[in-house]
Amino acid sequence: MTSFTHHMPTRLIFGPGSIDRLSDEVASIRHRCLIVTGRRSARLSGLLETAQDALLSAQIESVLFDQVEPNPTLSTITDGAKLAQEKQIKWILGIGGGSALDAAKAIALTAANGSDIKEFVCGARPARPPLPLVVVPTTSGTGSEVTPYSVVTDPAECDKFGISNPHMFPRLAILDPELTTSMPEKVSVDTGLDALSHAVEALLSSLRSPFSDMYATEAIELVFKSLPSVREDGSFIPGRSSMQLAACLAGMAIADTRTLVPHALSYPITVFYDIPHGRACCLLLPAFLERLSDLDDEFVQARVAKIGGLLGNKDDAPDALRAFMESVGVAPRLGAYGVQDSEIERFAKQSTGKGHLGISPGEWSMEDLLDLYRRSL
Ligand SMILES: [Fe+2]
Repeated sequence: MTSFTHHMPTRLIFGPGSIDRLSDEVASIRHRCLIVTGRRSARLSGLLETAQDALLSAQIESVLFDQVEPNPTLSTITDGAKLAQEKQIKWILGIGGGSALDAAKAIALTAANGSDIKEFVCGARPARPPLPLVVVPTTSGTGSEVTPYSVVTDPAECDKFGISNPHMFPRLAILDPELTTSMPEKVSVDTGLDALSHAVEALLSSLRSPFSDMYATEAIELVFKSLPSVREDGSFIPGRSSMQLAACLAGMAIADTRTLVPHALSYPITVFYDIPHGRACCLLLPAFLERLSDLDDEFVQARVAKIGGLLGNKDDAPDALRAFMESVGVAPRLGAYGVQDSEIERFAKQSTGKGHLGISPGEWSMEDLLDLYRRSL
């Protein structure tokens, strides 16, 4: 047994209808809350009103920040943090998909420190912990509800950046699968592929632990079985429950292991080609697995075979992954989305210094990153 670190401080309330427990769960907080959400979907689905009513009945005053866009930018975080400071906010309720939750976390950190989010993106250590967070996810993908990470976008750099802080785990996450039934088919698939990418990468990370292995293995099985079923019928609650559990387990896995080369290489293609995050990561995974199969490392080869086995073909994991993507209506190559060979050198260059590389199996020079992109075209 090698040494490892495992930390999971988030209280989870899981199950259909569990949003009804929000009011009781936060009633003891008493302080003013900032609700952080996207511009439309929580309002349209009625969830925003439900949450506002829950806070009211707990006699908690709330302020709304509903300006989070997909792939939240640094300026959105700055605006939200400014509002939190002006209104003397003491805790944050994040409602929505991964973008809303990541924004809630970054706003909580920035507001508590009265500083510029860019400092944390550049690696500065915050002096104070973030404001306490409660989250209600409405998609099943990022696992942001159980991680200490927030990913924010800097359009000027054409890239996304992860911020990690051990205090950025939400205190409470309410996981109500009924809240995910309004996701359109494409969002269900793209977010599900993010959960799958997290689980696959977790099994290969040098930071893996017995806990992350257990979470990741179960998550892959759940996605393989349930993503096709929710794609067919978005109102199928057992399938939605399985996907929400899968995303949460995969999130718990990467809370230990972080993410690997496919995530690092996905960021520029998401920003530049507008390919959704989960899809972008998954498009790079087969070539990543191909390269790992060629390594002279029995453990890594066994892990790749295990991943293939969980996806229905232990002898050819890359092919199993591409076949699974096709089975849920996703073209499995970057070329299908207009990604050009002429652009990838720039993307590879901007990925060379990222921390994902050092915890991935094998060596990752500029040429290796280029090769991974090229194999994925
Ligand atoms: Fe991800």
